Amino acid sequence: MAPHKSFHVTTFGCQMNEHDSERMKGMLESLGYREAPERAAADLILFNTCSIREKADERFIAHLHEAKHLKRADPTRVIGVGGCWAQSLKDEVFARFPFVDVAFGPGQVHRLAEFLTSDSLSAQGYFEFEGFTGHLPAKRAREFQGWMQISVGCNLRCSYCIVPSTRGREVSRPIDELVAEAEKSAAEGVYELTLLGQNVNSYGRDLRPQPSSFSELLRRLDSIEGLGRIRYTSPHPKDMREDVIRCHAELESLCPHIHLPLQAGSSRVLKEMRRTYDRARYMDRVALIREHVPDVSLTTDIIVGFPGETEAEFRETLEVADEVGFDSAFTFIYSPRRGTEAATFEDRFVPHEVQVERMERLVEVVQRRARERAQRFVGRTVDVLVEGTSRTDPSRLRGRTPHNKVVNFEGLAGPGEVVPVVVTKATSQTLLGEERLLARAG
Ligand code: 5AD
Ligand code: SF4
Repeated sequence: MAPHKSFHVTTFGCQMNEHDSERMKGMLESLGYREAPERAAADLILFNTCSIREKADERFIAHLHEAKHLKRADPTRVIGVGGCWAQSLKDEVFARFPFVDVAFGPGQVHRLAEFLTSDSLSAQGYFEFEGFTGHLPAKRAREFQGWMQISVGCNLRCSYCIVPSTRGREVSRPIDELVAEAEKSAAEGVYELTLLGQNVNSYGRDLRPQPSSFSELLRRLDSIEGLGRIRYTSPHPKDMREDVIRCHAELESLCPHIHLPLQAGSSRVLKEMRRTYDRARYMDRVALIREHVPDVSLTTDIIVGFPGETEAEFRETLEVADEVGFDSAFTFIYSPRRGTEAATFEDRFVPHEVQVERMERLVEVVQRRARERAQRFVGRTVDVLVEGTSRTDPSRLRGRTPHNKVVNFEGLAGPGEVVPVVVTKATSQTLLGEERLLARAG
């Protein structure tokens, strides 16, 4: 045991990774490690990696080189690489980066604990899929916001996606265990809880002997005292059934926001992606959602330049983006991932310049529609959960509405408070406003 060792964690990628990193930190602190203010001061240097965006990979390699130099200066330092990128390279990690001591797949935080408490500090890789880190204490970045992983893995095989090979088949956590964990979080002061999973709305079908469902989980969480906001990410359009949609209309704490990944507007491309829905089915889900929750915010993920995507097919993506009017969208340029089906469609790869040009056209439509949609909030009073000060203007506060809109506003509230804010202006990305008490006084 090393009572005064220190660690430093750098996180890339998605919320799931942020969440895993919090767990790592909580676990390390329970092992007696302390967080170092900077990488150079740490005995244990960790990277939690992502392979969704190629860019993150490049940034990460640069960081890894810095760690190599630190290790050269002090060979007793331990360097660990976790997450999806580590998983996708597996044993190659050690061949390519001999200074790395430990590598582990996503969600394998408990393996990191095992490694650190074992005698041998030689190169080891942990890539099995079993096990949850749920029992480990999580360190929360903000005490009023928490995450809860409800399932790991994914049973789908989207042809572009690396997740099924890195996170394995879907395994749901028992519903009673989740309810108990959420109750505990609420008792500790968590107001906003985000449920995480690769495909959250297929939750519970694998549970034995008693299968459960996502809507059942939502209903049970909604009744927990003190939990003011429940969010989740990401659902799959194929499983977005009426029971889940009704929860948005009926449950007070379930936020009026649904992130519904579209990926492409053309039914032929969707089929090649193995998304299991077509354009009409997606639009039908959107219509059903809006019928039950007219004011809902809809956000999405879209990939442009998938292998074989023609100009006419890309225009279908533009049409759908225009028709739906997303409140915001994450847009990605397709890039091949090792070991995925679409990576073998080399003869149909779309040239990079064409991908970039399509991306620009898509972003234009997405932003125009987001700006138009955001105008519905101007003049309204919205409840804002204060997160801190504004990133661009420290004299303002920053928080989030139930619709998941970021609001920068003038006010006196502190982090964790929920305050009424009058919205005065809306851009495609953020809202601007004033705390209502101030608005009255002024
Ligand atoms: N290329 C581009 N975007 C991808 N995504 C997943 N895999 C790829 C890939 N190979 C995007 C999808 C997914 C989001 C998290 O990342 O849109 O929903
Ligand atoms: Fe990947 Fe598709 Fe599973 Fe999402 S649903 S994790 S995109 S395979």
